[in-house]
Amino acid sequence: MSIERISSGVSGLDDLILGGFPEGFCILISGSPGAGKTIFTLQFLVDNAKKGKAGIFITLDQNITDMRNQAKQFDWDLGEYEKAGFIKFMKPSSVSLGNQGIIETVKGSKIHNEIIPAIKDSVNTIGAKILVIDSISTLTLSLPKGFSEGDVRLFLKRFFDEIKSLGVTSIVTSDLPKDSKWMSRDRISEFVCDGVIILDDVIFGEDPMRILRVAKMRETKQDRKSHFFEITDKGIVVDVDKGGCGE
Ligand SMILES: Nc1ncnc2c1ncn2[C@@H]1O[C@H](COP(=O)(O)OP(=O)(O)O)[C@@H](O)[C@H]1O
Ligand SMILES: [Mg+2]
Repeated sequence: MSIERISSGVSGLDDLILGGFPEGFCILISGSPGAGKTIFTLQFLVDNAKKGKAGIFITLDQNITDMRNQAKQFDWDLGEYEKAGFIKFMKPSSVSLGNQGIIETVKGSKIHNEIIPAIKDSVNTIGAKILVIDSISTLTLSLPKGFSEGDVRLFLKRFFDEIKSLGVTSIVTSDLPKDSKWMSRDRISEFVCDGVIILDDVIFGEDPMRILRVAKMRETKQDRKSHFFEITDKGIVVDVDKGGCGE
């Protein structure tokens, strides 16, 4: 049976993963600050909106006005898609992360976190096919201080289960300290997500060069090499012609 795939919207990347992300997958994008994670997710959102696939963007790090301004750098007029109902932004002030809700999520048998019903409502309202959460690190950091590693693990597992049950293809981002040997800040998301893409940079000669690597993509014979990419005035472009640039 052939798998339905959804384009990443990132030029060159789809060639590395048999045409796109399998529909319904949850993909983790990890990288240090400035690596291009937010631009990647905006590109995914806009490209799919253009094709008539509506998306929800939950921004936990930046305010919505900043996101719209960032997008303008690449000639992506988010307002146009928002008006047409193909893109909806949500931010923490409208998605309460009340401690009580989160405690019940972990200690109770049933998820009772306010963020989940809010996401579900929005997905149903606009018939969303895609979802972005930028970043999952901020969500994890907002958990109560008394949470043990086990509590965080359980919270994230249940959170991802809920996201997957929505039937959307999703991307979550994670802030990764430079030279981390893990693939996410919480060290759990990489095991739970269906796919992992790492954005990094290397010094090539004297110049810092951006590199992208697909570290994991379930149900996909993937190209596992690192590839150079650039952030151009059209967004992220992965250079697949030169082949891999080593690990
Ligand atoms: N118009 C642009 N053209 C090229 N590069 C850009 C442009 N705008 C931002 N960048 C690059 O993208 C980086 C920010 O990308 P972003 O996706 O916000 O990073 P992250 O979310 O990983 O922290 C900036 O540090 C800059 O290097
Ligand atoms: Mg960002």
